[in-house]
Amino acid sequence: MRVTVIGAGTMGSGIAEVFALNNHEVLLSDVSNDILNNGRKKIEASLEKFKEKGRIKSVEDVLEKISMNTDINAQESDLYIEAVLERIDVKRDVLSRIRSDAIIATNTSSISITYLSKFVRNPEKFIGMHFFNPPPIMSLIEIVRGNSTSDETTKKIVEISRSLGKTPVEVNDFPGFVSNRVLMAMLREAIIAYEENVASAEGIDTVMKLGMNHPMGPLELSDFIGLDVVYDIMNVLYNDTGSERFKPPITLRNLVYAGKLGRKTGEGFYKYK
Ligand code: 3HC
Repeated sequence: MRVTVIGAGTMGSGIAEVFALNNHEVLLSDVSNDILNNGRKKIEASLEKFKEKGRIKSVEDVLEKISMNTDINAQESDLYIEAVLERIDVKRDVLSRIRSDAIIATNTSSISITYLSKFVRNPEKFIGMHFFNPPPIMSLIEIVRGNSTSDETTKKIVEISRSLGKTPVEVNDFPGFVSNRVLMAMLREAIIAYEENVASAEGIDTVMKLGMNHPMGPLELSDFIGLDVVYDIMNVLYNDTGSERFKPPITLRNLVYAGKLGRKTGEGFYKYK
């Protein structure tokens, strides 16, 4: 199958890698060659880990499956996956530029699929395909149907997800779907516990890691996702539901305003080398 992935950030490059690992011909597209080269470096680093584990024989063989181009229509594909910034104006621009009648999936983590479907040619062939970070490791794909998504499109995306070795779960188009509705409520409560000095950041994370068997504590996980991303998702959930349970905490807002976005900038709730 030929797949176009638009957006070469953490999620887009990880999604491109997943398809290449499963022998599909991938076009990875973004606005500049610098961003594409960074995406390639992320994919290479991840493939190196798989090679060390013996899961793949050659990094080059997988990389060869991925071509890169700033033109999103450079390859005629069977599936297009949008994984650009979590901003409606950016998504609208990208979705309306796809010149194909193939299925288009969006990796949005919180924006309504029904709303985004206004920007594509065939809303019945538009669906949410929500991957988790890091995409090559995490086995869930949350499949989100919009109001117009057809049964045929859903069936196809469920099949493709299984063929990638992932577990698809079908959910409906509600704010934050299932994943971020539950996750954001937890992250928000952990940040408020930190603000109120219930315990130190390490204390809060250790409670959740050792007490609940989570691989990462909520503050560590927020840094890993990116505090700007967490802030954007909470804002969408807060605006869409009006519920206080998603209101972004001031500490989170101030870290974002200060450019302390977590791991990717070297500082968030923790400092990184
Ligand atoms: N590519 C390839 N392999 C990778 C990798 C990558 N990008 N990242 C980690 N790995 C491998 C490591 O090599 C290691 O393999 P091994 O066990 O065979 O040695 C294994 O995965 C575990 O990695 P590490 O030992 O480096 O570190 P951890 O044990 O801490 O695992 C983690 C890293 C898999 C990220 C784990 O901490 C984890 O599961 N964290 C939670 C992640 C999570 O919750 N993600 C969802 C975020 S929410 C989201 O994405 C939705 C969005 O809408 C916000």
